[in-house]
Amino acid sequence: MWNDLKARHALVADRTILDLFEPERAGDYAVEASDMRLDYSKTNIDAETRDLLFKLLEDAGVADKRAAMFGGATINDTEGRAVLHTALRNLDGGPIEVDGADVMPEVLATLDRMSAFAGAVRSGEFAGQGGKITDVINIGIGGSDLGPAMATIAMSPYHDGPRTHFVSNVDGADIAEVLAACDPTTTLVIVASKTFTTTETMTNARTAKAWMSDAVDNPASQFAALSTSEEKTADFGIPADRVFGFEDWVGGRYSMWGPIGLSLMIAIGDDAFRAMLRGAQSMDVHFLNAEWRENMPAILAVVGIWHNQVCGYATRAVLPYDNRLARLPAYLQQLEMESNGKRVAMDGTELDVPSGPVVWGEPGTNGQHAFYQLIHQGTRVIPCEFLVAAEGFEPELRHQHVLLMANCLAQSEALMKGRSMDEARAITEKKGLEGKELERQAAHRVFPGNRPSVTIAYPKLTPCVLGQIIALYEHRVFVEGVVLGINSYDQWGVELGKELATALQPVVEGTESADGKDGSTAALVAFLHKHHS
Ligand code: F6P
Repeated sequence: MWNDLKARHALVADRTILDLFEPERAGDYAVEASDMRLDYSKTNIDAETRDLLFKLLEDAGVADKRAAMFGGATINDTEGRAVLHTALRNLDGGPIEVDGADVMPEVLATLDRMSAFAGAVRSGEFAGQGGKITDVINIGIGGSDLGPAMATIAMSPYHDGPRTHFVSNVDGADIAEVLAACDPTTTLVIVASKTFTTTETMTNARTAKAWMSDAVDNPASQFAALSTSEEKTADFGIPADRVFGFEDWVGGRYSMWGPIGLSLMIAIGDDAFRAMLRGAQSMDVHFLNAEWRENMPAILAVVGIWHNQVCGYATRAVLPYDNRLARLPAYLQQLEMESNGKRVAMDGTELDVPSGPVVWGEPGTNGQHAFYQLIHQGTRVIPCEFLVAAEGFEPELRHQHVLLMANCLAQSEALMKGRSMDEARAITEKKGLEGKELERQAAHRVFPGNRPSVTIAYPKLTPCVLGQIIALYEHRVFVEGVVLGINSYDQWGVELGKELATALQPVVEGTESADGKDGSTAALVAFLHKHHS
């Protein structure tokens, strides 16, 4: 199949996206699901290419794998786990069995416990030594940080609970600044760690506990934990009634829907949190049931595969024209790159196509005044994914929202259409230039165009829509992973650095010598020692 697709690419490489625009194209190459519209008409995908891409999904057995994932099978087979983050938002679905036992009663009971605790914090029924909780600090990293941190910013119009802070980095600067802004007697610290062993999180948690001990008689009384390990949370001193557990079939980067979302739930309340779950669930139902042609995650996946594995475009820019989605690119970096940044297939053999793309981005319009230069005129093609809402949360600033939307649409149009040398010449002529100087100046003003993008549009960034967006991307990653034949749910690639950091700690501390380290590492350690006062 890859060869067929590569042959197809060679065949259509000289054709422009603009050439494809018949009157029906905008309708044929767009799909609507739940509240969203995905337009992929501004790509070089035509009917034959799309058929080949859907055949790729069939050949890879995506439908069977999808059923296996939703059904609780052990599809994360390098760790021997099911992959069931969808169960966390299966609010009114049926039972889901893992190893013959229905997991839904426990999932729903934990959600109810979260709601009760979040409600108590918000109302003041649960208080700190100094009174009602004013600040919540979520200490976690990776999947135990990025989801709730991204969503708390995204949901700021709904934020009516205590102030929420996120500490992730082991760099003391991160926690020091947050602690300095909080009163320990009215702060709740949530230690979010699936394993409860992650060095960064446990180091920050101990720092927070020491900070709280100075002002609060029983610091553990203002701590909660989100983890799969009851034993380790107990060892840390957090009583069971403030431990919100989940099972190992929830991957870290897929965990914002359950206990890891507690800080978000405290910020926005139970109703808004559940609305987000329902939005995600509606995308799950769509993904499970829609034909490929109508299936938004599947389409987003095949567009990604076409651009990355077939056309060879190594990166993908995610460009939300929605300032509250400022952390979406960072969230997607973990979701996509930790999931699909793999070099071997399930059977251990090396992939013969590139792994998942480099994902990056920033909100528009800020990016336009920074890196869009390269997107428009650089030598590499960077497929772009625009996100835009029809409406903002500032009705009095509608004129600004109109500008925002116009900028978003203008960018995808500019990327597709470009500006020819003749058009550029006409512009430079008007400036009174002629001859060689006119040609030289015109060349700088040419936009090659024919650069692909997709646009995801939605009515407004409500909790329900946020849930749809994130579930859409989760399923897209799933489909891409199945097609590549990889395990999207392990993350062995993060382990080596962790091991070496542990081994290097005494060397950096100066209690062990750097002998035996490579020359570069030893010289850097020496420099850091020399400049440490
Ligand atoms: O180091 C990678 C990772 O394991 C991620 O997959 C995970 O989201 C993050 O660390 C945090 O892990 P934990 O929730 O166990 O602290």
